[in-house]
Amino acid sequence: MSGHPRIIVYLQRAVGHEFSAAQQFTLQAVQAEHLGLGSFVDELRAGAVDELRHAEAFSRRLHEIGAGSPSVQAAARPVGRTLAELLRFGLATEADAMRLYAEALRFCERVADAGNAELFARIHRDEVQHYQELERRLREHGVEMKH
Ligand SMILES: [Fe+2]
Ligand SMILES: [Fe+2]
Repeated sequence: MSGHPRIIVYLQRAVGHEFSAAQQFTLQAVQAEHLGLGSFVDELRAGAVDELRHAEAFSRRLHEIGAGSPSVQAAARPVGRTLAELLRFGLATEADAMRLYAEALRFCERVADAGNAELFARIHRDEVQHYQELERRLREHGVEMKH
């Protein structure tokens, strides 16, 4: 299997995004623990693991197409201090992932790369689910949505 150079770049950006998200959610779990937010702590920990699995899947694909291990510097994303901030910053991360993977998916389809289209589509679905879970929690807490 080989990859279009632009798809390799999308995969590398995806790995970077996922490690950033895993780092952010891990730090948010610690902050949520500090705030005594109970079940949200476990959700954030589970979310961090999901993002690590995504990083792994994108990295594996880079190996499969002969691009080797990406050299990744995970960008620091804001953690937040209050529950409202944790949720808003988490939503922004999920929205970024959705945008990036939707764009990557469109490009894969344009160059008829079904294998990578399937990978980006699958992970895009996970991110939509993450987004919806955070949105539900934001509504539950009566926090005003910021668009
Ligand atoms: Fe992810
Ligand atoms: Fe996510």
